[in-house]
Amino acid sequence: MPETTSPASTSATQEARITAALGARSIVLVGMMGAGKSTIGRRLSSRLGMPFLDADAEIEAAAGMSIPDIFESRGEPDFRDGEARVIARLLDSGPAVLATGGGAFMRKETRDRIRDKAVSIWLKVDADVIMRRVKRRSDRPLLQTADPEATVGRLISEREPVYRQADLTILSRDVPHEKIVEECIEALHGLLCRDGAKETNDRIGVTP
Ligand code: S3P
Repeated sequence: MPETTSPASTSATQEARITAALGARSIVLVGMMGAGKSTIGRRLSSRLGMPFLDADAEIEAAAGMSIPDIFESRGEPDFRDGEARVIARLLDSGPAVLATGGGAFMRKETRDRIRDKAVSIWLKVDADVIMRRVKRRSDRPLLQTADPEATVGRLISEREPVYRQADLTILSRDVPHEKIVEECIEALHGLLCRDGAKETNDRIGVTP
């Protein structure tokens, strides 16, 4: 009788192969505010059985104050330095799924660290989806401007060429979160485990 594999066990195998191929490396989610990095990251971590870390929450814990308060009392450059330090520490703390704040990947030193120690996923999101998601919240200091929509447009055009340097791109949109998570799993599997993964594995030092 031919051997059959149920979809559930195929998926479990896929996840096990991804974590094996990752080895000591993390998965880092990058992209604009409102892209769903924390929501998707948390779900992705539980699918893969990896810890979840949220850089913004860790920055707030390290500073003992909220991100709006850090911007207000210390200014953005100080926030960015703290953000780079916290992400460096989290990347050194072992494999995890790490959600980063929207500006983190803009710093070259952070991008280089992510490239060395992780596989990165850009959650790409359209301006109108961002606006819908952030509209009623005041916890994004960069959007406390006279014209938040124009600010989002400017940030998108400055940042997208940099976000594009991530290893994988997934389109974040208003579909069930599990669909986006599934697309992340498929993309990670394609990058790390399928034929053609050799180049990536060589770069990240994995022997399949
Ligand atoms: C920022 C995004 C925020 C937070 C800070 C700055 C940015 O994180 O780090 O307000 O520069 O885009 P989220 O992307 O999690 O909202």
